Parts: sequence; structure tokens; C-alpha cells
Amino acid sequence: MYNYKIDTADKASLYKDLYTACEAITMGEDDAIANMANVAALLWQYIPDLNWAGFYRMKNNALILGPFQGKAACIHIPLDRGVCGKAASSGEIQCIKNVHEFEGHIACDAESVAELVAPIFNGEGKITAVIDLDSPIANRFDDQDVEGISHIAALLSERISESIS
Ligand code: SME
Repeated sequence: MYNYKIDTADKASLYKDLYTACEAITMGEDDAIANMANVAALLWQYIPDLNWAGFYRMKNNALILGPFQGKAACIHIPLDRGVCGKAASSGEIQCIKNVHEFEGHIACDAESVAELVAPIFNGEGKITAVIDLDSPIANRFDDQDVEGISHIAALLSERISESIS
């Protein structure tokens, strides 16, 4: 049983403790799917006001659904579609206040309004996956969320370096 102490009182504490938990749960494990599954579970359990949390993996120059928590979601995302495709094609984190104003947004869950997508790079600078967080609350994600999730994405660079296709 894993029992992490996560202080959810404020975002700084939340992301500090979440990083430590993600580091601990993936330590010494080289199976990318297992690591993504456990990290998705931690993000889902501790980050408030989400309706989806998980991963899309880069495969054959497109994104394919990875481990997640939330409602069943679209499986294939071309790189020129959606917030996830934008993050994967540009290599830049996407923090979208309202997805209804984002051209090409893919509505997997009609409840999603705000979205935060962070690319994960391998050691050679190639994108291997993205972390995707959805919220039903407009403007849900701010600079602290961007920083916290970027930090976790950087950690996972080393922890999902095995082939994930
Ligand atoms: N809305 C995303 C698709 C993935 S779901 O949110 C789980 C997008 O536009 O890329």
C-alpha cells in the first residue's frame, strides 16, 4: 500500500509533495506504462477540480491514449489537432483557460473547460508523451499549476524512457 503525505493547503505545498510522491512511486521502475498509471492516479487523487488526468503517448508521429483517470477518452490524436497535438507538435506547455475558444479542441468530455498539457521529452529532446489535465472550471490552471506540472513532466522524462509504443 502506498500512503503519501500530500499537503493540499496551497499549490506550492501540493506540487512539492506531489513531485516527491511521483519520484518515490516511479523510483527504480523502468516500465513506462506502470509509471504513467501510478502518476495519473496521484494527479487525479490530489489535484482538485479535475475531470480527467492522464497521458497520451507519441506513436508513429501521432498521439495515442495512455494511462488515465476519468471518463473514457478519444484514442488517437493527430499532431495538428487539439490541445494535446499542439503541445506535442510545438514542444510547449499549453495552458488553456477555455477550450471552447481553442481552435481544433477535441471534446472528449463535454464537461472539460480548462486544459493543461505538458510535453515529456526523452534524453535526446524527443517528445515521448504528454500529460493532460482537464477541468470543468474555466481558468482553472495558473502559473503555479504550469510550473508544478512542468516539474513532474521533467521528472518523468527519465522515468518513462523505455519504449512506450
Ligand atoms: N481535449 C484534448 C483531447 C484529450 S481529452 O481532453 C482527454 C485535446 O484537445 O487535445
